[in-house]
Amino acid sequence: MGIDISEQQLSHARALAMADAATCLVQGDAEHLPFQTQSLDVVFCDHGAMTFARPERTVAEVSRTLKPGGLFAFCMSSPIRDVCWDAETDRVSARLRADYFDLSALEDDECVCYQLPYGAWIRLFRQHSLLVEHLVELRAPEHPRTTYSLCTGGVGSEVAGRAHLEAQEDRPRSRAGPGSWRRLTSRAGRGSWA
Ligand SMILES: C[S@@+](CC[C@H](N)C(=O)[O-])C[C@H]1O[C@@H](n2cnc3c(N)ncnc32)[C@H](O)[C@@H]1O
Repeated sequence: MGIDISEQQLSHARALAMADAATCLVQGDAEHLPFQTQSLDVVFCDHGAMTFARPERTVAEVSRTLKPGGLFAFCMSSPIRDVCWDAETDRVSARLRADYFDLSALEDDECVCYQLPYGAWIRLFRQHSLLVEHLVELRAPEHPRTTYSLCTGGVGSEVAGRAHLEAQEDRPRSRAGPGSWRRLTSRAGRGSWA
């Protein structure tokens, strides 16, 4: 099951998923998920609503719709990228450009994105009974080649997060995460960082 707020994006996805009749794509806003409470095993977001919708709403909706023990996995840019973003050149720079502790809604001519300091993200997850299991910070190798080089300037600064509802925090997880995810260490305790 997939959701996007944009009908145009969904029509691309429908064309690509044509062969897979089991795929159900619905139009909707992640701030008001059209799914029943405690109905989902896994919520996955790849550079989507976790970046482009209000975190206070999306995290609340993920928590509402996940079953106890469910998994929330998402990829988004790191706060470091956002404090180093140079709006004039439209790329990541080597200098701090914004106040880390002021990170919130980031607006330009084209869109509004959202970002929070790491501590605020953790508080938000915990407020909605989501326990942070992993924070995977991707690091580009030396001399990386990327199709995003025009806007990143070659700086790799993506993070992937993963949280699950506290209710079953001790249950071992067998499900493998998406490609870029790696289990770094086993979880040492409640709310610990891997
Ligand atoms: C950068 S694209 C990423 C899409 C996809 N993951 C990919 O890699 O191609 C961001 C997507 O988030 C969707 N989006 C933005 N705000 C949303 C919201 N409030 N609810 C659902 N989808 C939203 C956009 O329509 C867009 O398709």
